Amino acid sequence: MRFKSSVWAVAETSLIQLKMNLRFTSPHEKKPGIITDLLKRSYAELINAEPEHWGPEERNWEQYDLDVFQNPETIGACVFLSWVGDQLVGFGSYDPRQKPELGVIGHNCILPEFRRKGFGLWQLREILRRLAAMGVKKAKATTHEHVFFEPARRMYLSCGFRKVGQHQWAAHPDQDVIDYERDLDNIALEATS
Ligand SMILES: CC(C)(COP(=O)(O)OP(=O)(O)OC[C@H]1O[C@@H](n2cnc3c(N)ncnc32)[C@H](O)[C@@H]1OP(=O)(O)O)[C@@H](O)C(=O)NCCC(=O)NCCS
Repeated sequence: MRFKSSVWAVAETSLIQLKMNLRFTSPHEKKPGIITDLLKRSYAELINAEPEHWGPEERNWEQYDLDVFQNPETIGACVFLSWVGDQLVGFGSYDPRQKPELGVIGHNCILPEFRRKGFGLWQLREILRRLAAMGVKKAKATTHEHVFFEPARRMYLSCGFRKVGQHQWAAHPDQDVIDYERDLDNIALEATS
């Protein structure tokens, strides 16, 4: 029993250390294309499984990547890359244009080989921390009902979001999207604890 609990203690310490090592940088230190690449790798399983539904999203990702690099003071200022040491593990983004009432969670993903280590949650908290620092009161996130997005749904619920709606996805009416919201009053405290 004592052995088991010491193993857990070591595992937990390693996880905390990994989280503490997650650092965030501007995409502008890198070249255009990096955002598209991260999105394609993060959604590869879904695109390969259902290319007819999700394949067309690739064009939107390429346009988003262009927008990030062509608008460094606006869209590009609301994107960050997430690293563990020298290893790029994912990226987060947000849209604060409706501040102070609302901030919208944008693209966020963790590369498949780095998943299930708590990075997605940590990255999402960084988005919330940045929105709260801008005076935003409430955050909104949208994801899909599709089984591929179960980790995303769990991540939002785990991060204090509550489901506020579900409706048809305009691009594909046979698939639903789910809306989540959470208040940001106490986020600064959470980020430092
Ligand atoms: C969603 C995503 C960012 C999560 O990244 P991650 O680093 O694996 O997430 P975490 O390790 O922080 O786990 C977050 C939660 O998801 C759960 N989770 C992670 N992978 C899961 C899986 N395969 N099945 C079920 N739950 C899973 C974790 O258990 C955790 O929930 P908990 O706190 O209730 O235990 C990642 O899966 C991803 O990039 N997916 C593709 C892109 C995407 O869906 N982005 C969100 C757009 S809305």
